[in-house]
Amino acid sequence: MTVKSAMTMSTTLDVSESFGLVESRRPALSVIASLLRNPLQAMPPEVYREKLVLAKTGGRTSLYVCDPALIQEALTKQAGKLGKGDLIRQVLGPAIGEGLLTADGAHWRWQRQAVASGFQHEKLIGFLPAMIAAAQATHERWQAAPGPLDIGHEMMRTTFDIIVETMLSGSQALDVGKVEQAISDYLEPTNFMFVYNLFGAPGWLPYPGRRKARASVAYLRESLGGLVAERRAGSQRRGDLLDMLLDAADPETGRAMDDAEIVDNLLTFVTAGHETTALGLPGRCICWRSTASMRKRFSQRSQA
Ligand code: HEM
Repeated sequence: MTVKSAMTMSTTLDVSESFGLVESRRPALSVIASLLRNPLQAMPPEVYREKLVLAKTGGRTSLYVCDPALIQEALTKQAGKLGKGDLIRQVLGPAIGEGLLTADGAHWRWQRQAVASGFQHEKLIGFLPAMIAAAQATHERWQAAPGPLDIGHEMMRTTFDIIVETMLSGSQALDVGKVEQAISDYLEPTNFMFVYNLFGAPGWLPYPGRRKARASVAYLRESLGGLVAERRAGSQRRGDLLDMLLDAADPETGRAMDDAEIVDNLLTFVTAGHETTALGLPGRCICWRSTASMRKRFSQRSQA
């Protein structure tokens, strides 16, 4: 069997029945309701037990690759045949353009090479003091707090402090509260964009929060653009993500990134790193609170 357009695969892929392909069928209305409520619930239930699931909703056919061996096959041996697809570009493209997360092919490769050295083991170890300082600041904030805390907001704040410190050398020019709010305002209505994409609706259709989301993107891009201009104008180099992007040169053409491309990537790292980690950490806290064995392991590790 051949699948043409899958969730993150934009090219034709051979999917033999021998892989155990299972077809998922759900009423479109229930998928829409789940997407608007909680996108995780919009996943076909089969993805939690089958290796390969094909789901058709609206005008979109999605192939979920769930088996670790197949995932490895797809992401390593077949990576050259796969693209990121139009969904992520339609939803995140207005904010992060053609940065690392949304780019494909050669444009992706040279951006990836440009930042690779920032993620080497030694470099990551060097980030530890900033991470520990952010955790300590959070701890002090919590101790001084008079009442209950919003753990989601607290984790957003902590991860943002780490991202700004490690990726942008702790730039003081960013208004942390405003940037955090702008990211949330941009991401909040993206569920509607997922639904529109599912049914091939035109991108100009209105949805709740659209105007706020646009204003947020403009604010974020302007703030980060200011940082780029400031760094270009100064002589001091800091060896952080921003410097790596400024120094990057395409190995084929030798061209450097322009300001808009650098902002694409800064915003990619700020949003991709901030939102994902911040949302994952409260889950960890819940597990930690409710599982004695996890508490024990955590305390052993932190003492080691
Ligand atoms: C628990 C935390 C995280 C989760 C669950 C997560 C999840 C993901 C996933 C699923 C992708 C692939 C998306 C796709 O190709 O469609 C991705 C890509 C990416 N993530 Fe994360 N991420 C996390 C933390 C971070 C952090 C901390 C950073 C930055 C400091 C980051 C930066 C990126 C970037 C730049 C990409 C694009 C990579 C590429 O295409 O080469 N992520 N992440």
